[in-house]
Amino acid sequence: MATSVKYSTPSFTLFNKSCFDLVELDSCSIDALITDPPYGIAFQNYRWDQALPHPQIWQDCYRVMKPGAYGLVFSAVRLMHRVMVALEDTGFDIKDVLFWSFLNGMPKSRDIGLDIDRELAISSRIVGEYQYVQGYRKNGAAHYKARKGKPICEPASDVGKKYKGAGTGLKPAYEPIILIQKPTEKGLRIAQNVIKYGTGALNLEETRIPFEKDEPKVGHNPHPAGRVSANLLRTVPLADGYDKFFLIPKVRQQKEDFNNHPTVKPVSLMEHLVKLISFSGQTVLDPFAGSGSTGIGALQNNRKFVGYEVEKAYYDIMRKRLHECE
Ligand SMILES: C[S@@+](CC[C@H](N)C(=O)[O-])C[C@H]1O[C@@H](n2cnc3c(N)ncnc32)[C@H](O)[C@@H]1O
Repeated sequence: MATSVKYSTPSFTLFNKSCFDLVELDSCSIDALITDPPYGIAFQNYRWDQALPHPQIWQDCYRVMKPGAYGLVFSAVRLMHRVMVALEDTGFDIKDVLFWSFLNGMPKSRDIGLDIDRELAISSRIVGEYQYVQGYRKNGAAHYKARKGKPICEPASDVGKKYKGAGTGLKPAYEPIILIQKPTEKGLRIAQNVIKYGTGALNLEETRIPFEKDEPKVGHNPHPAGRVSANLLRTVPLADGYDKFFLIPKVRQQKEDFNNHPTVKPVSLMEHLVKLISFSGQTVLDPFAGSGSTGIGALQNNRKFVGYEVEKAYYDIMRKRLHECE
């Protein structure tokens, strides 16, 4: 079992240990929960991603959150139903599902036409050769698949030809983020709950989406500061054809970057989420903090941060990143 290590400054507190019981935190002490937990899809075979979080962890989060506090929980598209049921069974209300959209997700798909040739022991037809080297990261390190010069094949068997180009998966272009809320205190109206605890309302004012310059303002009486934040998320437009969609690119890791966490979330995205479900001076908890992107979003927006991370290497990266933005 990991030893408990705590590190604290006036603006953040970090624990290098499992978030399993959150014993260090008082009941009803947290204003907002934002977390990117293990997706349970064995991503790149990482040990920590083999299973979904134990339901007890959601119960611990529920205990430490104030009545009316909101939470945002990332999940994988194909397992989000399980996460939602676990959260609901804990007692949280499911309020919405935000879609974080991006264009740089990698399709994970088999080429079925070529697989059919292999099944039939028929050599596929070589039609050219790859002209690039494909880079990817595994276990924190950069790898390069020497694609350059490798043959590009097409199915040669009759059945293979019929299924030429057929595959097994779409290009991923979004991740869901489940918006939950701990119920407000029994007997209190929402405004009474906000007065008593400071929680129970979304911070729509701080997260308005400004109109583009010269953009015609549709609808009657548009708010001068922009539209109400949507459940489809963007920061900046990427390219002409996509301007009307809301997009935030996934983080591409740089070789020289000291942060080698394999699933770093974009800080711009985390800032938006922090601003959406908390108010200035409040405390945000991330029980699966990784390299600390939620914490950066919190500190850069005048919130306090509490983070748990079980892996020492990621904990150290988080600590360094948070110090840099203090
Ligand atoms: C998806 S990653 C979070 C990445 C983070 N959003 C970032 O931007 O760096 C989930 C993290 O949860 C950690 N983790 C898994 N189980 C844990 C547990 N029981 N307690 C604390 N951390 C845990 C993993 O080591 C991993 O770093």
